[in-house]
Amino acid sequence: MIKFERNTELDIAMKNLILSMVDVNDYITSILDYTEKVLTPQKEKELIKILKKYHVPYDGLKYDLKILTENPYYKEIKLDSVYSETVRYEKATIKKRTLIPMNFHKPMGKYLFHQHPIGYFDTDIDLPVLKEGSNKVWMSPAISEIESMGDGIEKGHGKCMTMGLGIGVLPYLWLLKDEVESVTIVELNQDVIDLFEKYIRPQFKTDKKLEVIHGNAFDYYNEEFLNQFDYVYVDFWESTEDGLEFYTKLMEKKINFPHMDFWIEDSMLYDLKYIIAPYLYTVYEGKDIIDFISSIDVDSKKFAKKVNRYFKTRNDVIRTEDELLNLIHDKDVLREILGQ
Ligand SMILES: C[S@@+](CC[C@H](N)C(=O)[O-])C[C@H]1O[C@@H](n2cnc3c(N)ncnc32)[C@H](O)[C@@H]1O
Repeated sequence: MIKFERNTELDIAMKNLILSMVDVNDYITSILDYTEKVLTPQKEKELIKILKKYHVPYDGLKYDLKILTENPYYKEIKLDSVYSETVRYEKATIKKRTLIPMNFHKPMGKYLFHQHPIGYFDTDIDLPVLKEGSNKVWMSPAISEIESMGDGIEKGHGKCMTMGLGIGVLPYLWLLKDEVESVTIVELNQDVIDLFEKYIRPQFKTDKKLEVIHGNAFDYYNEEFLNQFDYVYVDFWESTEDGLEFYTKLMEKKINFPHMDFWIEDSMLYDLKYIIAPYLYTVYEGKDIIDFISSIDVDSKKFAKKVNRYFKTRNDVIRTEDELLNLIHDKDVLREILGQ
């Protein structure tokens, strides 16, 4: 079982960790009042005060439209003719000065505080949206979606593979890169593939190989298949909510393939870090771990049990803040915990 040396450095680090969790909660609650609404100059002043309080950078609330209008997918791929029994196109207008999410979580500082990048455009902007049923957004090249794939777009080279086709934003941006030789996609939903083949693929001006495999990502998540590629990006979940479940199932397979990233991995891992920090605090304080696990809500209990199983296998003694923070932020540790 992991052990701690009790000392002042760790006393302070533990308190700071727990405080950062409280802070982030307060911060999110305070900014929620402003998001998805028009930010009047008066409201902007109030919001800046809140951001200042939490040391979140605030000079970038006004975003340059170019992040969208100069994105090749936004510029070149038209979705307005898309139509199927279940999916239809709609033009959504983001009114000027509407405060919207611009990306997923961004870590801030060394503890657990993180910011949610938000901002507005100074003019109205139209965004193509594919809707399902009466009003549910099915897919859209939203700014936060494009921004959060940035790492995956950049790292793509050679033979690329992605799990989850969607509307093909990532494949399109990959194929534009000289370093990318071919793109393979694994997609579960035949309707998504049909829609892509009919309306979107014809707009891809490329001679490079683009292969869409109809199949379940879990069946292809094995070393034999992955080893055919130079870079893999896994993106078949909708948000952090369903994502952590799927990502955990992948981690349980304990695949060793280093050239692979997972969409919004850092954001999904926050939920796990929020269990690890109080768990370690419980161990540090010598309190009852069973009580701690019982206090966790039903949905997160299985993660708490994984945390406990993992730290029971560790035999080291933690003496410094760096060692403690490593247990919370090291991706290999986090992936191993989920793989338990
Ligand atoms: C968020 S979208 C991917 C967006 C895509 N990266 C893009 O650039 O447009 C997720 C996609 O994963 C697909 N999907 C869901 N579960 C899957 C699974 N188990 N295997 C493969 N694809 C899956 C969905 O049908 C959807 O098309």
